[in-house]
Amino acid sequence: MLQVRSIQVKYGAAPALWDLSLNVMPGEMVSVIGPNGAGKTTLIMAVMGLNLLAAGEIVWEGTRISTMPAYQLCERGLALVPESRRLFTGLSVRENLELGAMHPRARQNRLRSLEQVCDLFPAVRQKLDQTAGTLSGGQQQMVAIGRAMMALPKLLLLDEPSLGLAPSIVGDMFRAIEAIHRNGTAVMLVEQNVSRALAISSRTYVLRNGRVIADGSSAELAQRDEIRRAYLGV
Ligand SMILES: Nc1ncnc2c1ncn2[C@@H]1O[C@H](COP(=O)(O)OP(=O)(O)O)[C@@H](O)[C@H]1O
Ligand SMILES: [Mg+2]
Repeated sequence: MLQVRSIQVKYGAAPALWDLSLNVMPGEMVSVIGPNGAGKTTLIMAVMGLNLLAAGEIVWEGTRISTMPAYQLCERGLALVPESRRLFTGLSVRENLELGAMHPRARQNRLRSLEQVCDLFPAVRQKLDQTAGTLSGGQQQMVAIGRAMMALPKLLLLDEPSLGLAPSIVGDMFRAIEAIHRNGTAVMLVEQNVSRALAISSRTYVLRNGRVIADGSSAELAQRDEIRRAYLGV
């Protein structure tokens, strides 16, 4: 469903991604791991059309999307939860969620979607009329994911959803991501919590210095010595 084909992204003269290829199949959960600065955010932003490609192409459901504006990608079924969350802290939680349902199909479905988001994140249901800025970091992350789900995505892209969350919330967050996947949404999960990412996904790509240095089934990668040493502290 998503094919990233030999893309290169540069910031100025310095390449941040080199000849990077990756794919996600319908309904699949794929994780992308790698150290800080490996190019994970650059990759996810490139998929969302927010980074110019110096080479290669990105194909979504058979259509080249490399030059498409973000709102069209959203309508075609791609949704991003950025690392920074980017909520409107002065608006209510309900208003933030409704902003995710911009295209006509999502708008029509928004009451049902809101109900589904509240089922997924019971803590959010209690907070719908509070301003988003009054929520804890974990609750704000739930709203950010909920807002993306309001667009009825076929593929949800998550950039380090567990970053900065209290340990007590991290398990809930991963369970919610699993539930989203179980309900049929494909997920591309960028994570620094490598053991959780390997446990929850079926396939994993390992990035370093803007390249894929390993990929394969998550269960198999979790057994490899070099992965265990580098990322699992074994
Ligand atoms: N806006 C930017 N301008 C210049 N360099 C950037 C920018 N964003 C990221 N980089 C560089 O690109 C590389 C990849 O960064 P990034 O994609 O953020 O990595 P990750 O998300 O894996 O930590 C790093 O070397 C980083 O310093
Ligand atoms: Mg990043």
